[in-house]
Amino acid sequence: MTVPRFTLNDGYALPAIGLGTWAMSDDEAATAVAEGIRTGYRLIDTAASYGNEAGVGRGIAESGVLREELIVTSKLRGRDQGYEETLRAFETTRRDLGVEYVNLYLIHWPLPRQDKYVETWKAMIKLREDGLVRSIGVSNFTAEHLDRIIGETGVAPSVNQIELHPGFPQDEMRRVDAERGIVTQSWRPLGKGRLLDAPAVVEAAGFHGVSPAQVILRWLHQLGTVPIPKSADPQRQKENFDIFRFNLRQPEMERISAMAGGRLGGDPDTHEEF
Ligand SMILES: NC(=O)c1ccc[n+]([C@@H]2O[C@H](COP(=O)([O-])OP(=O)(O)OC[C@H]3O[C@@H](n4cnc5c(N)ncnc54)[C@H](OP(=O)(O)O)[C@@H]3O)[C@@H](O)[C@H]2O)c1
Repeated sequence: MTVPRFTLNDGYALPAIGLGTWAMSDDEAATAVAEGIRTGYRLIDTAASYGNEAGVGRGIAESGVLREELIVTSKLRGRDQGYEETLRAFETTRRDLGVEYVNLYLIHWPLPRQDKYVETWKAMIKLREDGLVRSIGVSNFTAEHLDRIIGETGVAPSVNQIELHPGFPQDEMRRVDAERGIVTQSWRPLGKGRLLDAPAVVEAAGFHGVSPAQVILRWLHQLGTVPIPKSADPQRQKENFDIFRFNLRQPEMERISAMAGGRLGGDPDTHEEF
């Protein structure tokens, strides 16, 4: 199957779907990542705070797929924000993953109360200039956080990874990202599996002969975002990957967008993750 790709504002390509690894142990991540890559995933998402970068690295090495075909993403955790701290933390991430370079490195949360995200962003730029990271981005940044780092450095992130799922379609943040040339990635795309029995989703799944998870991931794709569903199960990994063979109709898109719900995770203005 051919997976569409987005072109980032730095010229690199990003596959339209990725594999999440949150809450996997090292051993689970090693197995799930190797299996996912064999299924066809080329974008892998981890973070220092998940504590599984070594396992993800093992999965990458064991997958049998060439390193240059993979987009390996990790994230800088809150306690490591700051210029020198970021450079040091990146070295740990690189060592744990066992890679020469990281494709996409994100600031995990803005943590506005500690107000270090601008100097942290300058260190991300340095990592890119030094060729250690291909693309730099952020996660959970609002318009205000984005405009501050862009205003102070002249460099826009390539990606903003934000919470986005039915019940929380993030119309405003998708517009904010698009206006700044930033690709939006969707975390918790399946609402941790809790959104799969919503009538709007189940009825669209019945019409198209696909699963509820496929409907949700397709909805995220048609919104122009890159979902990164997590599954440790080979069958569900395959299911989540297979979303490029059908099209949701406009009324289905609108009905899913209008589902009641809201945020399931932290508010970027107040959430503290160290
Ligand atoms: N940047 C951030 O702040 C941030 C925050 C949260 C998450 N993330 C990233 O986003 C990724 C995805 O978010 P998430 O893991 O929180 O939630 P999610 O992907 O919405 O849901 C994962 C859950 O759904 C289940 N599942 C997956 N596919 C399924 C299917 N086809 N049918 C039924 N159940 C299915 C999984 O179980 P099985 O494994 O058993 O299939 C797992 O329990 C994370 O893994 C992480 O990489 C980033």
